[in-house]
Amino acid sequence: MNNAASILFIDDESGSRESLTLLFAREGYQVEAVAAGEDALSLLSKKSYDVIVTDLFLPGVSGIDILKHVKENSLPCNVILITGHASAETAVKAMKEGAFDYITKPLNFEKLKVLVAKAIEKSRLVAENLYLRQQLRGKYKFDNIIGNSPAIQPVFARMEKILVTDSTVLILGESGTGKELVARAIHYNGLRKTKPFIAINCGAIPAELLESELFGHMRGSFTGAVADKPGKFELANKGTIFLDEIGTMPLQLQMKLLRVLQEQEVERVGSTSHTKLDVRVISATHADLEERVHRGDFREDLYYRLNVIPIHLPPLRDRLEDIPLLAKHFLRKICTDMRRPVLEITQNAVRALEGYKWPGNVREMENVIERAIALTDSTIIDLQDLPPQISGVAQENSLFPTLQIPEGGLDLAEAIAQIEQTLIKQAMDKSSNIKARAASLLNINRTTLVEKIKRYDMN
Ligand SMILES: Nc1ncnc2c1ncn2[C@@H]1O[C@H](COP(=O)(O)OP(=O)(O)OP(=O)(O)O)[C@@H](O)[C@H]1O
Ligand SMILES: [Mg+2]
Repeated sequence: MNNAASILFIDDESGSRESLTLLFAREGYQVEAVAAGEDALSLLSKKSYDVIVTDLFLPGVSGIDILKHVKENSLPCNVILITGHASAETAVKAMKEGAFDYITKPLNFEKLKVLVAKAIEKSRLVAENLYLRQQLRGKYKFDNIIGNSPAIQPVFARMEKILVTDSTVLILGESGTGKELVARAIHYNGLRKTKPFIAINCGAIPAELLESELFGHMRGSFTGAVADKPGKFELANKGTIFLDEIGTMPLQLQMKLLRVLQEQEVERVGSTSHTKLDVRVISATHADLEERVHRGDFREDLYYRLNVIPIHLPPLRDRLEDIPLLAKHFLRKICTDMRRPVLEITQNAVRALEGYKWPGNVREMENVIERAIALTDSTIIDLQDLPPQISGVAQENSLFPTLQIPEGGLDLAEAIAQIEQTLIKQAMDKSSNIKARAASLLNINRTTLVEKIKRYDMN
């Protein structure tokens, strides 16, 4: 029934460790037991358990410390504490810290068994719920927004909450973190999904044109206004307007925007009549708007009106766990767009992607993968298909990454000898230790190679 539910025991008494391990193993559990809290923490960094049963008093890291660690890291397991008679107070504290339950010494195995079974059932229910919720979300909602990391979870949670509302949303995040993607997802999963989503990049339109783009104009209201034209707000009526790069909006327009938002009506440039509006506003910026407000570049009242529900998108470097998922997602998406069979990616290449800082965030990663797909002749993307700053592989025309002379200088002959040995070793490895082949890779005589191998004692 408990198909190999796992338990971690922590107790410094070896007798109790041994007997509990034996008893629970006999019940069909997977049991591991350690004597010290430190060992438990190191196990917990690598594996997960359904239940932890720990002695409260341990010489170093205590049972409470373990419990705190579990809670702080939201590990999906329940903690049962074993306490001595005298420590009822500590047990109460433990329950407050979120322990599943506690049991007093001397241990009654039957009682502990019931507790463990209950704790496991609860852990599993929680895990199952989480899984189901993620499944649902994946299927019906944000399935094009990839991410499973702790850093992105609050974004999903908040998006989920506001789907059935008309709240004004402000999306904040560095360039390329997915602000527009999130804005679209909010619209297309929300109440207004059958109505227009109109995006306007306030930073890309010259200030003098922005006003008429947003609010529309009447024929003849300025040179070039040859016909009446509705603005983006009118086009977005009943739907959503996405004001991208809102931080760049000129001050005098901010005032007009604020009025439109407050009155929910718009006046075209050159017109005297108003049009009633029903528009949801989502805006985005990579700028620190609060700071702009402090500097006087952004109206405080407008800031508060736009920032009803803020959503912070984390930079990619804060969610490196998502990189393998994103890599697979982009391979599938880009290959499908190019009508090519979907390529794979090697572990080494994924690791290199995980080791990079991604100043351009997800957009930069998408470009890197697209370039790799376009350039490779293989069915699998590998290190050499990635840019050198990511792969760490030297550029084609230079054999070595830039070498650095250490502060204290170096011995040139010694350094060259080191390089020579590295290259010989690689040539031998590549040639399955066949010297003639290695020599030809290095463009030297076999005898020269043999001499060098001997001199460096590399056999
Ligand atoms: N979590 C994600 N999952 C899948 N694709 C993503 C994700 N985040 C971003 N992208 C993709 O990365 C690219 C950049 O995203 P988007 O244009 O939404 O970013 P942005 O924050 O608006 O960037 P900028 O500030 O440069 O305008 C898009 O192609 C988008 O589809
Ligand atoms: Mg954008």
